[in-house]
Amino acid sequence: MLILGLESSCDETAAAVVTGDRRVLAHRLAGQEAEHRPFGGVVPEIAARAHVEAIGPLVTGALVDAGISLSDVDAVAATAGPGLIGGVMVGLVAGKALAHAAGKPLVAVNHLEGHALSPRLTDVDLAFPYLLLLVSGGHCQLLLVEGVGAYRRLATTIDDAAGEAFDKTAKLLGLGFPGGPAVERAARDGDPRAVALPRPLTGSREPHFSFAGLKAAVARAVGTASAADLAASFQLAVVDCLVDRTRRAIARAGGATALVVAGGVAANQAVRGALEALAHAHDLRFVAPPSWLCTDNAAMIAWAGAERFAAGLTDPLDTVARPRWPLDPSAEAVRGAGVKA
Ligand code: KG4
Ligand code: ZN
Repeated sequence: MLILGLESSCDETAAAVVTGDRRVLAHRLAGQEAEHRPFGGVVPEIAARAHVEAIGPLVTGALVDAGISLSDVDAVAATAGPGLIGGVMVGLVAGKALAHAAGKPLVAVNHLEGHALSPRLTDVDLAFPYLLLLVSGGHCQLLLVEGVGAYRRLATTIDDAAGEAFDKTAKLLGLGFPGGPAVERAARDGDPRAVALPRPLTGSREPHFSFAGLKAAVARAVGTASAADLAASFQLAVVDCLVDRTRRAIARAGGATALVVAGGVAANQAVRGALEALAHAHDLRFVAPPSWLCTDNAAMIAWAGAERFAAGLTDPLDTVARPRWPLDPSAEAVRGAGVKA
């Protein structure tokens, strides 16, 4: 089985070819850091235009890398949400056109499902159900992954996502954009105990997250310590929150044999190390995709497409792009939550 995957929901345009037996034949990516850097964050209109320019050559290049032609693919998978709607539309429309031209089915993939299933691309033994900490720039959720298309949300953030907190902290500390990797680099030279910062919601009964208060505390502390000490103290506070909340969720994740972390923040070594220790303390396997598969990419979309295609799940060409698309539609909105899924 050969699946072509497309991703364009935020600020990475990507195309990949993945096989049903977990081989990544091609994986191309065009970042937009240079375009967004002057603004200190992702500008949706600039992102959408950059996706338009990048997507065609990326698809052509991915097919060349894979040594196949479009007619060889069994299905075309494209992110159909959630994300910045202009960008999502670019990738989804491209996916529809390619599927139509090839006479092959379209698989409309939820970007979050791409992250959620990505660990199964590189770990053959990862079986359902597993407990997933999905930590990215737009989301911070604990999910029980029961199967393809079957997700039970145990917790979410009531305000900011963890990646968002990294990005805002980087901005406050003048570390530049994108923020997560910059904070991690700065933290290496800092003392994580130098600045006392809050750990919002830790110890509370429901395993939800909150990072707005932490971000505000960093803003107040700017100037009282070095950027390295602040970065290290902030990173440890985030790690402590993630570990405490995930520990709470483990008690509710009956049947899960593995703790999995995915999404852009899962590229952070301190986050990975702390969660690995937590998993082992609870006799759970720990699984984290390689860093390149944690941040946005098309291989995870192609793989989610492969899993859905294998399950007989394809989508009509009039499928619409969705700015919001919760993985667990039955999950209740949490108090204090914004409109995030
Ligand atoms: O999954 P992703 O690429 O895009 C979304 O779907 O949001 O995640 C991007 C987020 C950004 O907030 C970025 O700062 C964060 O992941 N990130 C990191 C690291 N690498 C990326 N955060 C902390 N440490 C990192 N090394
Ligand atoms: Zn993502």
